[in-house]
Amino acid sequence: MTSGAESGPGTGRCRVCGGAVAEFLDLGRQPLSDAFLHGADADREFFFRLAVGRCSGCTMVQLMEEVPRERMFHFGYPYYSSGSEVMRKHFAATAQYFLETELARPDAFAVEIGCNDGVLLRTVSDAGVRHLGFEPSGGVAEVARGKGIEVRADFFEERTAAETRREHGPANVIFAANTICHIPYLDSVFRGVDALLADDGVFVFEDPYLGDIVRKTSFDQIYDEHFYFFTADSLRRAGGRFGFDLVDVRRLPVHGGEVRYTFARTGARPPAAAVGELIAAERAQALADPATLRGFADRVGEVRDDLVGLLTGLRRQGKRVAAYGATAKSATVTNFCGIGPELISRVYDSTPAKQGLLTPGAHIPVEPAEGFSAGYPDYAVLFAWNHADEIMAREQEFRRAGGRWILYVPDVRVV
Ligand code: SAM
Ligand code: TMP
Ligand code: ZN
Repeated sequence: MTSGAESGPGTGRCRVCGGAVAEFLDLGRQPLSDAFLHGADADREFFFRLAVGRCSGCTMVQLMEEVPRERMFHFGYPYYSSGSEVMRKHFAATAQYFLETELARPDAFAVEIGCNDGVLLRTVSDAGVRHLGFEPSGGVAEVARGKGIEVRADFFEERTAAETRREHGPANVIFAANTICHIPYLDSVFRGVDALLADDGVFVFEDPYLGDIVRKTSFDQIYDEHFYFFTADSLRRAGGRFGFDLVDVRRLPVHGGEVRYTFARTGARPPAAAVGELIAAERAQALADPATLRGFADRVGEVRDDLVGLLTGLRRQGKRVAAYGATAKSATVTNFCGIGPELISRVYDSTPAKQGLLTPGAHIPVEPAEGFSAGYPDYAVLFAWNHADEIMAREQEFRRAGGRWILYVPDVRVV
């Protein structure tokens, strides 16, 4: 099954400003990155064309084709945020920071967009602070509720945000992690924030940073769910259209390199020096210039050739090659590079909702992470490279036993 949206409304038009979007990278026919499947469903997969472009009007980098949101975010959505210890600590610290700043007032109210299994709101809830998580994926939303967290199993947008304002009053903080870049209807999100945020409140979100993606050639950050690839410059313009100033930015090491952006109502807070500094650095690097993005696209082709060359050579030598982490990102790698079970026999992953299924498009079997140490392969491709420290520390025995990791970010190498 293939999406029919190629010539649909919005193609080639910026979802933020309506300007012309020029494509700079085509990653081909791709499945939904989190649609793990049973073998019997292999002929019923949904595919779309994964291509990315840049708006000539506002510089926003975005997908050329939009996947309907209900196809991605539904009851069976298999990504559980609490699966990483590093991320659990990251979000506990983030929540604690808000509790000590924006939420340190009587009757404070915090809203999270995309609260998933409650990895962040748990700390807010445990502190007895009023909160609401928006989470359209029913399965993970239920897990959050089981932790005592208030969840609305719905998409955040203008309408649902305005309803929340009427029911609960203004929010002092609206937070989102790895979610705003998933939402093509950014206009509706900003209007929703406008409806819900207190006059002196902040809208804070963190997402993969285009600067890190280009620097590391981490093209696997491009998949159905990641619609936007933000810069401080493109977001400052976007926020300005809806009455918000970008008042702070902070680089984060998580998920391969992110930026946390803080918005406040126009004129409500003075921007920190970091905002101007990051935008100046982006301009000095020509980060979102067409030539830079074309150079990135060229390097993506080189990484593919190197990775396929390495894996083909190892197969010829009769080596056993598996992978670690059935990430959404790896759907782009395997499907763009044409890597299937003949080159990578299985993927080990700790997520029960993925185990026993096949990876989207490439159809590599997913097995429980415990199986890794039960019979080490000769080589393991680290699909979850963004969790490298955590995984390599836990699986130290693999290298001691003679195993080697294969990495492909920022380039292909064996360690
Ligand atoms: N915040 C968590 C984290 O950083 O690990 C979850 C990130 S997960 C990659 C993205 C989440 O956003 C999914 O749980 C998805 O269901 C949710 N989501 C997608 N569109 C949304 C929307 N319009 N409003 C609220 N949540 C949304
Ligand atoms: P992510 O890169 O989107 O966060 O996905 C990470 C995937 O890797 C997810 O399916 C869980 C899995 N994983 C493990 O199997 N073991 C681990 O130690 C970690 C951190 C993640
Ligand atoms: Zn634009």
